[in-house]
Amino acid sequence: MSDLSVEYLGLKLKNPLIVASSGLTRNAQLIGQCEAAGAGAVVMKSIFEEDIRRRDNSFTDFLATHPEASGYFEAEVGLVYGAHQYCEEIKKAKAQVKIPVIASVNCANPRWWLDYAVQLEGAGADALEINLSIPDVNPAVSGSDYEGTFQEIVSAVRSRVKIPLAVKMSGQLTAPQNMAQKLVHSGADALVIFNRQSGLDINLNTRRAFSSKGDQGLSTPHSIYYPLRWVTILHEMLPAIRISASGGVHSVESFIKYLMAGASTVQVCSLLYRKGLKEIGALLEGLEAFLRRQGIKSVEELRGSVLRDLPVGTREQQRLEYIQLSEGHYLEVDSTDGGGLTFESHPKD
Ligand SMILES: Cc1cc2nc3c(=O)[nH]c(=O)nc-3n(C[C@H](O)[C@H](O)[C@H](O)COP(=O)(O)O)c2cc1C
Repeated sequence: MSDLSVEYLGLKLKNPLIVASSGLTRNAQLIGQCEAAGAGAVVMKSIFEEDIRRRDNSFTDFLATHPEASGYFEAEVGLVYGAHQYCEEIKKAKAQVKIPVIASVNCANPRWWLDYAVQLEGAGADALEINLSIPDVNPAVSGSDYEGTFQEIVSAVRSRVKIPLAVKMSGQLTAPQNMAQKLVHSGADALVIFNRQSGLDINLNTRRAFSSKGDQGLSTPHSIYYPLRWVTILHEMLPAIRISASGGVHSVESFIKYLMAGASTVQVCSLLYRKGLKEIGALLEGLEAFLRRQGIKSVEELRGSVLRDLPVGTREQQRLEYIQLSEGHYLEVDSTDGGGLTFESHPKD
């Protein structure tokens, strides 16, 4: 039997499958169900800065100013924690389960993080994941302003807590590789690649726009490709850093691809919302069968074993791929069905 165990955030996990931060992990009872279904660890539903502000009676406009949080709140109507309740759920979960329980915080301003981080550590969380997604449309704020804030948050939290720290990065950065390095220098022990961003949809009848993450707020199998590229690049660039891949795992194949690309753990969420926690077992069985067929003894041996005969991250290679893709395919008007467009493959010799 292959060894599925992995090391992540200094913790020994029995397998690399983590149930991602979401309503699936919002309390001790649900965390117990994730463990029973076979998960290697869980990341708890995030506690948001806005919760603290609300307690301070200054919470007024988070839906308008914090669309990322608003997306989650819409998906999880009525799910509102105070820090106390959150800590109680950590304590209960730690008393019930053996798997690591990673707490999650999402704040927009460094001053709010510290209080929460310290409390969650005190409640017994094995590690902390901080979700650094701070969307804003203020034209006066530059990318480097945000990046400075991200570093401040990580440094401040690092200086106050001893438990390991994972940073869930936004994929919407001009230079994720540079930001990743800075986050590690600021004290991140692991990187979660990536957080999912909210988009927008429009109801054509009411003309109202609303925050949307796609199909019922859940990912699709296509969501894997962008994070997969960056897991591959970052694993090669920062081999000492543990990466947790997040986004678009809807099959055993995509689960394995993230590990092969260099992820130590893989976070899964939408698949479990769609098909239930039994999918955890199916993914792990599929992984084990793959390792057996390939004669690979452990997940550690599989990790990062993707062939690197092409440097996937370089500017030259990305340009080359882009040019090949645009030359290799063309759109043609299909006259047989009333003029629809068909996408035809036209590979170059
Ligand atoms: C309903 C729902 C709630 C979520 N809540 C959180 C959250 O509170 N904090 C967070 O960091 N990510 C949250 N996420 C994002 C997931 O943790 C995960 O990163 C994302 O869904 C990508 O994984 P997937 O493709 O397997 O769904 C949420 C996702 C969903 C679908």
